[in-house]
Amino acid sequence: MSVNIAIVDDEEMIQWTLKESMESEGYNVKTFENGRNFLSFFKEHGADIVFLDVRLPDSNGLDLLPEINRIDPETIVVVMTAHGDVETAVSAMKLGAYDYLAKPYNIEEVNLLIKKIIQTNLVKSQLQHYQERLESHFSQILGENYSIKILREHIAMAAKTDHTTVLIRGESGTGKELVARQIHFQSGRADKPFIDVNAAAVSGTLLESELFGHEKGAFTDAQKQKKGLFELANGGTLFLDEIGDLDASLQVKLLRVLQERKFRRVGGTSDIHVDVRIISATNANLEQKMQEGSLRKDLFYRLNVFTINLPPLRERRDDVVLLAKSFLNEYRKEFSKEHITGFSEDALKLMQAYDYPGNVRELRNIIERAVLLETTNLIRPASLPDELKNNMNSVEFKNIKTADSETVNTKNDIGVKENNNSNDLLSPFGDDKPWHKPGFNFKDYIDSVEKHVVEEVLKETGGKKTKAAEILGLTRFALRHQLKKHGMVVD
Ligand SMILES: Nc1ncnc2c1ncn2[C@@H]1O[C@H](COP(=O)(O)OP(=O)(O)OP(=O)(O)O)[C@@H](O)[C@H]1O
Ligand SMILES: [Mg+2]
Repeated sequence: MSVNIAIVDDEEMIQWTLKESMESEGYNVKTFENGRNFLSFFKEHGADIVFLDVRLPDSNGLDLLPEINRIDPETIVVVMTAHGDVETAVSAMKLGAYDYLAKPYNIEEVNLLIKKIIQTNLVKSQLQHYQERLESHFSQILGENYSIKILREHIAMAAKTDHTTVLIRGESGTGKELVARQIHFQSGRADKPFIDVNAAAVSGTLLESELFGHEKGAFTDAQKQKKGLFELANGGTLFLDEIGDLDASLQVKLLRVLQERKFRRVGGTSDIHVDVRIISATNANLEQKMQEGSLRKDLFYRLNVFTINLPPLRERRDDVVLLAKSFLNEYRKEFSKEHITGFSEDALKLMQAYDYPGNVRELRNIIERAVLLETTNLIRPASLPDELKNNMNSVEFKNIKTADSETVNTKNDIGVKENNNSNDLLSPFGDDKPWHKPGFNFKDYIDSVEKHVVEEVLKETGGKKTKAAEILGLTRFALRHQLKKHGMVVD
């Protein structure tokens, strides 16, 4: 989890000092000089914490509070008031602000406040996450590429040995977290917590108390004893994300947990024993980090017991269509745009040719955006981002029409499975409904329709399977399966 902070203040000096200091703590910071600019950004991207000045050039900050709340009630707002303006501070709190800061404030005070917010909300959101995971743990790992089939086998193996430490490696967006979750939910620990911690998002000392908890009085802010995530994950799985960013003292402490399955809370004097499986993930080059001396070798070997490497999407391009369709299905429902039934052929070509530096997450985002933008029944190149269209210059895409002149060629367009057009499905029968004929068998009937359609399409493509699969909206694997199933020749 990275922390996104928005500062809404028209005084440049304040914007600058706050931004500098927050960024040095590793937070993502955006600044806005008026309410309008902020709101338009916030509607689209949201923020975890908003520092909101009450006196803005175009509005009163307090007037924005209900709007922020309406857009995202989870967002935490800290209102910045003039010194001694108690009335405004009180109104802000009544309107749902988390806290207020009286100007002039010192940077230390701001930093402490942010840490307090993260600390109280991190654990809360971890537990909430856990709840969500329980509900969504069957979110599938999609893909028919050979590497994904092997991956599924590896996940099953890792799940079986539920004490084995697992290291998941792969570029950003390749599905590391998804895999970690699958391992947990297929393992004997499934009904115990799955807790994820991002080592890069929280600074060293704070992360230490997050992970291991602290005793009352361990440091200035420790007003009461707090359990760490290791204790909360007891019996379950702790997912340590971005493990390459762990600082030196935490590496020692983690090594001890891995070796001895025990640790001490910050400021604590007795050992606490836990039974937690550790799954870590990274997109960093750990070998290089070891060479540079920023990662302990002994820790690396302890983490790297069972390694799972996730392939970048560009190395399994044959899965792009399948993933894209699944995301389309998801977003068309979410955004109530169920009239979008598939992709134009040109859009598909662009999607298959692109390299996806952000991997599956990038593809997901592309489809989300396209569903929002698309006004016709098919996702066309016009709704795809420019990066994909850069490929248009290559010879293969010369024929793709530009956004304005584009026409939709429904004959060859490829759609998602449509569930709600039952009229279309039934209408071909007219009065001659096959299920009223004697000896009708549903399964046999569907099989014969499948076979018939596949045969017809193959005839149309002169036996070219890749083209046939494209027309049918199947992957090559799925088409092969159809051919085998119906006893047709497979080469
Ligand atoms: N094989 C897959 N099938 C379906 N969805 C996938 C697959 N791989 C990744 N995704 C989706 O892609 C998005 C990114 O996945 P995830 O967060 O697991 O990636 P990550 O490797 O942890 O990325 P990062 O390094 O940026 O943290 C998620 O929405 C996830 O559901
Ligand atoms: Mg991740």
